[in-house]
Amino acid sequence: MHLKKNGVFSRSASAQRRNHSRVLIIGAGASGYAAASRLMENGFYDLTVLEAEPRIGGRVNTVRFAENIVELGAEWVHGEVGNVVYEMAEPLELLGHNAAKRDFNSHMDFVWSGGALAERAEIELLLNTSQAIRDAVDVDPALASYTGSYGEFFLDKFNQKLMALERRPPAELVDRFLGWFEKATGFYDGSDTWFNTSGRGLLHYRECEGDLAITWKRGGYRTVFDLLTKRFPNPSQELPVRRRVLLNSEVAVIRWAEREATSRPKPPIVVELSNGARYTADLVLVTVSLGVLKHSADTLFDPPLPQRKMNAVRNLGFGQVNKLFMYFSDPWWPSGLSGYSVLVTEDDLEAFKRKYPQYGSMGHWVHGLSGFYIDQHKPSVVLFDWIVGEPARVMERYSDYQIMMGCKDWLDMFLGQNFTIPTPIGFTRSMWWTNKHFKGSYSYRSLDSDRADAWAAHLAEPILDRDGEPAVLFAGEATHDYYYSTVHGAIESGWREADRILGSLK
Ligand SMILES: Cc1cc2nc3c(=O)[nH]c(=O)nc-3n(C[C@H](O)[C@H](O)[C@H](O)COP(=O)(O)OP(=O)(O)OC[C@H]3O[C@@H](n4cnc5c(N)ncnc54)[C@H](O)[C@@H]3O)c2cc1C
Ligand SMILES: *[C@@H]1O[C@H](CO)[C@@H](O)[C@H](O)[C@H]1NC(C)=O
Ligand SMILES: *[C@@H]1O[C@H](CO)[C@@H](O)[C@H](O)[C@H]1NC(C)=O
Ligand SMILES: *[C@@H]1O[C@H](CO)[C@@H](O)[C@H](O)[C@H]1NC(C)=O
Ligand SMILES: *[C@@H]1O[C@H](CO)[C@@H](O)[C@H](O)[C@H]1NC(C)=O
Repeated sequence: MHLKKNGVFSRSASAQRRNHSRVLIIGAGASGYAAASRLMENGFYDLTVLEAEPRIGGRVNTVRFAENIVELGAEWVHGEVGNVVYEMAEPLELLGHNAAKRDFNSHMDFVWSGGALAERAEIELLLNTSQAIRDAVDVDPALASYTGSYGEFFLDKFNQKLMALERRPPAELVDRFLGWFEKATGFYDGSDTWFNTSGRGLLHYRECEGDLAITWKRGGYRTVFDLLTKRFPNPSQELPVRRRVLLNSEVAVIRWAEREATSRPKPPIVVELSNGARYTADLVLVTVSLGVLKHSADTLFDPPLPQRKMNAVRNLGFGQVNKLFMYFSDPWWPSGLSGYSVLVTEDDLEAFKRKYPQYGSMGHWVHGLSGFYIDQHKPSVVLFDWIVGEPARVMERYSDYQIMMGCKDWLDMFLGQNFTIPTPIGFTRSMWWTNKHFKGSYSYRSLDSDRADAWAAHLAEPILDRDGEPAVLFAGEATHDYYYSTVHGAIESGWREADRILGSLK
């Protein structure tokens, strides 16, 4: 429709050509970067990556903190065999192994409010019992036909083991310990409670053999982007992915309707940004999180996504996990300790709200703290915790200062009689829920997923045009059948879709 003899139109036509790429990738997280790298490795450069945030990385976010770095998102390389992150990083000696991991629990104290320590032998018994169940749960064949939640399954086994003991720990301790254990292991999926997590869904996830908590020796998790683009170890061999990334480019709508028309040549897919800019492409690869899809799939796609994909979007679980870091100028805790786990009673929560009325309803989130732990890998003095589920969302409504002081006051309730706890000199935390480019942490299998028969494979299915060719494709951790919720899963999904694109463009 471009009137070539009209100067204005031809300029706009060439401007439009500039904004056309054969492939548009939405999202510069691990999966989008992996896809772009794989395409370029195969000599395909006609692509643009649209990223809403002012940075690349997505849920990998390494930040400077306390004269060091901390990870607001992914931190560990989970396992070795079959883990593509491990395979890229290990030969270059970038990874550190944590022989001390088993030791972590034995150097952790359990404390009641007021400072009393729980008896070591009883805690060890409870830790051993519950960890053994957790470790065995995803290889338990009984789970395959189980229709209940992970919480029910776990408690059944736990109570059986407890009943078999000659000397049982006091009921109050068992109760509070279980409250802690649910919180402390909640980061496996980030669900609101373990009664939301599917029991048999745990079998979908596949663990890579080997050390499950490998950390990066230096540089942090963001180094993985340099590995994907081959910038590391040899910058001269870098694939120019970064140059094809447009930051601050939030996609508002993907118009793929015209692809249903029979016209030849095929009309392009039109992608409009919130800032009004338009881009066109033959193929669009969507890598936004499942949280983003849950929140905005209705408006992001025109026409709407097919019913089966929407069923997966609505019913696969998407968790909430946040991290908190406090920086103290000097350690106030005994040396050699890996941290304090708190045994919380209802009375503690009531007392906290009474004593600190200035926090108002904020008292609701402190119960999400499982304890305060010392970061063994950082020489600086940092205490951190994970917070999961509803408290993780609630916490995001308050300022850094309020949360920092809330943590300090909560610490005071448990340890203030034994130690003078100073005000931290630094504080940071993640906010994955409020940020509309994430809306949470990572995917999991819920009871809803089971009921609705929702699968990662449904999320991964490309939308085909009338000729049966892929038009809109999907990658991202949540689209991986069994490595979902991880960086290695996200990367594999990006490679998978890059291969599909290469096949389709041939
Ligand atoms: C707290 C936390 C801890 C974790 N710990 C680990 C761990 O220890 N080990 C591990 O393996 N994994 C961990 N994970 C999971 C891992 O970080 C993710 O699975 C992985 O990084 C996801 O990559 P992705 O490409 O699928 O999605 P993302 O990283 O979310 O990438 C999608 C990109 O799309 C962008 N985007 C969103 N909406 C739009 C839009 N409208 N327009 C344009 N761009 C948009 C986003 O900004 C983002 O950059 C953790 C995650 C969290 C949150
Ligand atoms: C706090 O002090 C009391 C009394 O001395 C002691 O019994 C308790 O073990 C101490 N708690 C901690 C966490 O050090
Ligand atoms: C718990 O497990 C550890 C390591 O396997 C073992 O050394 C310890 O004796 C166990 N403790 C109890 C109370 O079972
Ligand atoms: C968890 O389960 C409860 C009770 O069944 C339900 O009300 C809630 O919506 C669920 N939460 C999530 C995040 O699925
Ligand atoms: C084309 O892309 C540029 C940025 O890459 C953007 O500023 C411009 O608005 C786009 N053009 C149109 C017609 O949307």
